[in-house]
Amino acid sequence: MRASVQAVAFTLAACLPFATAQLDIPGLLSSLQPAAASDPRFTNFHPPGTGDVRSPCPGLNTLANHGFIHHDGKNMTIPHLITGLAAGLNMGADFTIAIGGAGLLSSPNPLGGAFDLNDLDMHNFPIEHDASLSRQDAYFGDDYDFYSPNWNQVLAFYKGKTQTDISTASHAKYARVNDSMARNPTFTYGLREFVLSYGETALYLQTMGSPSANGVANVNYVRSLFEEERLPYDLGWRPSAEPITLLSLGQQVLQLYTAGPEPVPEAQTVTADSYKDVFEAIVGGSEILANLTGGLSTAVGL
Ligand code: HEM
Ligand SMILES: [Mg+2]
Repeated sequence: MRASVQAVAFTLAACLPFATAQLDIPGLLSSLQPAAASDPRFTNFHPPGTGDVRSPCPGLNTLANHGFIHHDGKNMTIPHLITGLAAGLNMGADFTIAIGGAGLLSSPNPLGGAFDLNDLDMHNFPIEHDASLSRQDAYFGDDYDFYSPNWNQVLAFYKGKTQTDISTASHAKYARVNDSMARNPTFTYGLREFVLSYGETALYLQTMGSPSANGVANVNYVRSLFEEERLPYDLGWRPSAEPITLLSLGQQVLQLYTAGPEPVPEAQTVTADSYKDVFEAIVGGSEILANLTGGLSTAVGL
């Protein structure tokens, strides 16, 4: 299944006219920055309405609820995501291109250059996996809606704390793995899921804090992101001043893994590059990623 998706992506993407043909790639990449603090989108919060779609990702759902990306959750192109993720959360283009390229493979038409947020529910490949922090495993039914019993397992580790830290985040994440392993007879968890899930913990730490905050963020900010899918602007949060990149996240993946008891699956080695490598492996290499993203990945050195 995976091999055939990649083969089709490679063969067809090479000859398809991609929407980025007229795109000013250097102009797009050099214009990226968080929106001004006075930008009304930070305080305009609208949960999804009839016909709107959402995903298993609290980050994308939050940005859609604030209109940093299409509020209806549809037609997510890579240029649209690059701009919206930078404006709302100061995500670096390299991150958005790598994970967005993987996200395209969940679309019914990966070569169309866009996905809808609900496409991301696709289980085990390309991104969605078991042992999520705040969602159920697909085995139990719904792998995309917020599910408080699992999230409460994570929050229990932060009991009595107002701020996150690397060690607590790492132990909380491993507890979710052990819980899923014990209850889900179809539990699927290898190096890919291991790295992606540490990456997701790094994502909430860095977006609600910053890459240089060493894993410290306000627990209330993190709760707003997961529980309301709302930017905690009114609580005092502002986007990280430093861009959040594949490298900053990869370094935190390593830091989180080192701080906890979880063994690496498949006796592999984890480095700061593992996070980037996982996305390249999901899409089948840098050439396919370049085809899928209309050359954007090459422009950021992927
Ligand atoms: C194009 C960009 C993105 C794509 C395609 C994407 C996709 C996904 C998908 C498919 C999942 C589900 C994985 C699972 O099974 O848990 C997920 C989870 C997650 N994402 Fe995103 N994501 C993107 C950007 C972001 C951003 C900017 C943030 C910043 C807050 C973020 C934070 C998270 C977190 C914290 C989880 C874990 C949820 C949980 O474990 O319950 N993501 N993402
Ligand atoms: Mg999941």
